[in-house]
Amino acid sequence: MPRIRPVHALLAAALAAPLAGCAGRVPGPATTQPSATAATVASTPSLPAAAAAPDPHSYARPAEARVTHLDLDLAVDFAARRLTGRASLRLERAPGARRVVLDTRDLDVRRVGAGAEDRETTFRLGEPRPFLGQELVIDLPDGADVVHVDYATRPEAAALQWLEPRQTAGGEHPFLFTQSQAILARTWIPLQDTPAVRMTYEATVRVPPGLMAVMSADNPQAPSADGVYRFRMPQAIPSYLMALAVGDLAFRPLGETTGVYAEEPVIERAAWELADTQKMVAAAEARWGPYRWGRYDLLVLPPSFPFGGMENPRLTFATPTILAGDRSLVALVAHELAHSWSGNLVTNATWNDFWLNEGFTVYLEGRIMEDLYGRPYAEMLEVLALHDLRDEIAGLPPADTHLKLDLAGRDPDEGMNAIAYDKGALFLRTLERRVGRERWDPFLRSWFEENAFRSVTSEDFARFLEERLLGAGAADGREPGMSEDEVRAWIYGPGLPAGAALAESELLRGVEADLARFAAGTPAAELPASGWSSHQWVHFVRNLPADLPEERLAELDAAFGLSKSGNSEILFAWLMQAVAHDYAAAYPALEHFLTSMGRRKFLKPLYEELAKSPEGLELGRRIYAKARPTYHSVSVQTVDAILGWKE
Ligand code: BES
Ligand code: ZN
Repeated sequence: MPRIRPVHALLAAALAAPLAGCAGRVPGPATTQPSATAATVASTPSLPAAAAAPDPHSYARPAEARVTHLDLDLAVDFAARRLTGRASLRLERAPGARRVVLDTRDLDVRRVGAGAEDRETTFRLGEPRPFLGQELVIDLPDGADVVHVDYATRPEAAALQWLEPRQTAGGEHPFLFTQSQAILARTWIPLQDTPAVRMTYEATVRVPPGLMAVMSADNPQAPSADGVYRFRMPQAIPSYLMALAVGDLAFRPLGETTGVYAEEPVIERAAWELADTQKMVAAAEARWGPYRWGRYDLLVLPPSFPFGGMENPRLTFATPTILAGDRSLVALVAHELAHSWSGNLVTNATWNDFWLNEGFTVYLEGRIMEDLYGRPYAEMLEVLALHDLRDEIAGLPPADTHLKLDLAGRDPDEGMNAIAYDKGALFLRTLERRVGRERWDPFLRSWFEENAFRSVTSEDFARFLEERLLGAGAADGREPGMSEDEVRAWIYGPGLPAGAALAESELLRGVEADLARFAAGTPAAELPASGWSSHQWVHFVRNLPADLPEERLAELDAAFGLSKSGNSEILFAWLMQAVAHDYAAAYPALEHFLTSMGRRKFLKPLYEELAKSPEGLELGRRIYAKARPTYHSVSVQTVDAILGWKE
């Protein structure tokens, strides 16, 4: 995972200037239950009060005028690399509010109208700021509860990747996909780009006939004759879950309510690999209540997709690098599916509370994997994650190892690291271990049920935990399991708190014993590796001694063909070692890997490892010069910084 990088002090100071407004904990329109009040916050004085803090990454002032529904009408122009059309936004206005503030970045706004009659109204675009873009302030005539923004995106829109036919599996048609999380939705739609605001949406999308369009909504299963597609998302979602993909797509059902989209040359492989998806939905529903989104489909994208997966509601976007041919990387499906509860249903109110999305999701992912494949499998995943977490903690300034972050003035993307994911999950596993699954499971289910379609903060969770699980009344005369001090240390303190429920895995311990024998001289060919799963392989390769001579890497490569591995996780771990040990025989494989996919989780550590030596840096730059035009902007931004790249 990418690490948080300190931003340049001047830039930080400029960006720290407060953005007015009040995003806080704002229940969406679906909310009927009473929301938490200042009074309930005050009842647990030793935990910090719920942040009525604004979202530092949005210009929106939803307390004045809030978007509740979006109507999109977009034409997709591949030649011009532009989306052109109209966003109509329905508003809920506070009494006396005379304007609505939206987020935009790199949009050409052509005209704004207001009200049912679409009368032209005045608007102002603010000064652009790095990664935040520009506020769009629209004056609201009396009584108008809708605004219509006519606009076009720019070819460099950061959320969009426009692929040439040669970058696709089919090789004949162009492809387009979006990536809106964390704050890139504003680069293709003018909206209130904060996870504290939820909206329903409808969309009409016009594409070249023959191509299929899909969104985070109800989707077609075959191309339309005229290239026009209509979508509906009747559940209220935050802006970062807005998603669109257009390409020469095929569809295969996986189960009654699940299926997969991919290009024709990939679809059979994808359907085989993802065959357990329906079972995962069933396992998740049994634990956390009904799946609220209708169908659950996946879209396997071309290899430049910058993430492993993205939990776009109803349609997870996924990298093709999980198609290992042995179903060994399907934890990613469990993860993105789990976001249907943690994230999409109960959403972090700002990116400072990102662990509420990702830490919860990694925890749920582990439970799904355990239900489907057994405890030893889940334990392997936990131990591998613990290694990531320890590395991450070692490399970060202490303040960036808190679960609750302060990302004001920084790109929220920088909070996407093992702290949110693995420290977050470890906190929940520790709670589970302390109180027992019998009490923990119903507690967690009620967290999702009672906060469904709401945006929540770390403080909301701390309070819910205290009131419903740990507090004197909730604990029912029993020991609370975790003290308030400990809860506070987990959320607001650095590093790995004492008493964490650390995982152990017998399957990986066996590999460690083999590794020790190999390091002591046992020939590679004598390792019992034919029975290893891909996770065991990853563990073995990652933990090779730093001083292992190059010949011994060659010996492993000759025995097991690691440089030719078709499993992206094993290949990645191996190439990291190749660079670290300067095992040049693997460099053609390294170059091929770096030029054939754009998944940032693989790119970032490899380029970082290369950048550690002058020769490595040179090799990295040479490869990057070729690869850069094929990467998504999210990956380009990261690798540019690592290699000191200037266009
Ligand atoms: N929501 C994230 C991806 C994300 C986070 C995109 C923040 C942009 C900003 C997604 O659910 C995720 O966590 N993906 C992981 C896979 C997972 C199995 C850990 C990834 O892409 O590696
Ligand atoms: Zn996730």
